[in-house]
Amino acid sequence: MTNNCQTLKSFNVIAIDGGAASGKSSTSRRLAEKCNFLHVDTGSHYRAVTYACLEKGLEPRETSELKDVVRDLTFSTRICGHEAQICIAGDQPLGNGELRSPEVNAQVSPMSAIPLVREAVKTYQRQQVEVARLKGFSGIVMDGRDIGTVILPDADVKIFLKADPAKRQLRRQLEGSTDAIGDRDKRDASRATAPMKAADDAIIIDNSDISLEEVVDRIVALLPGSDA
Ligand code: CDP
Ligand code: CDP
Repeated sequence: MTNNCQTLKSFNVIAIDGGAASGKSSTSRRLAEKCNFLHVDTGSHYRAVTYACLEKGLEPRETSELKDVVRDLTFSTRICGHEAQICIAGDQPLGNGELRSPEVNAQVSPMSAIPLVREAVKTYQRQQVEVARLKGFSGIVMDGRDIGTVILPDADVKIFLKADPAKRQLRRQLEGSTDAIGDRDKRDASRATAPMKAADDAIIIDNSDISLEEVVDRIVALLPGSDA
């Protein structure tokens, strides 16, 4: 932890939203390390649920089969460093190979648009704040699409990250992914339930041309009590 996190209040809640490859996870991860926060990547929750449903041969449609499977899913958390990892049915957390497979990349957005899927993870996501407190972290940074608007509307600081779409696509390509992030963004922003959008009181940061470290420093400076 560096000096500019030492004057913060005892527990901080930070919501980070934005489109695909806008830098949410890397920014949140770095912020969590710097200020001793727990990082919760809610995209991984939707990916894990999508993986579990695809494993059962289910498509992203609001059927009674989907309802039954999703209702029976149980979630718990494993903490690894500053990362909270979701476990389904007490199993080990899924790896990136499963969570970011082409099949999950293609189905996660339609699956996340189904209200019963969102309801299934909502309470679990909110409970992560208490997990962070109980485990002695100095706060929580949760990233996703609806964190500032729906999941943590009372967060101390809300950030909406943006970056030029071509740069975001390039970032994914550099990671070796062929994920169609533009399609996913359109779908996520236009769905009826909890669409991706900046909360009215969110600070918008465009990181197309600024480094990760600079983005993190800007966020730290916004935290209550920061002397940055
Ligand atoms: O890493 P990337 O930005 O590509 O995606 P992600 O954060 O892993 O999220 C995968 C998908 O989950 C998104 O495209 C959304 O459809 C959904 N999601 C959501 O609906 N709400 C959230 N809070 C987080 C993710
Ligand atoms: O979580 P999200 O999908 O929003 O993005 P990410 O996985 O954190 O970042 C996507 C890629 O962009 C990663 O390879 C990051 O290293 C890169 N990135 C960047 O080049 N500049 C930033 N300010 C933030 C992320």
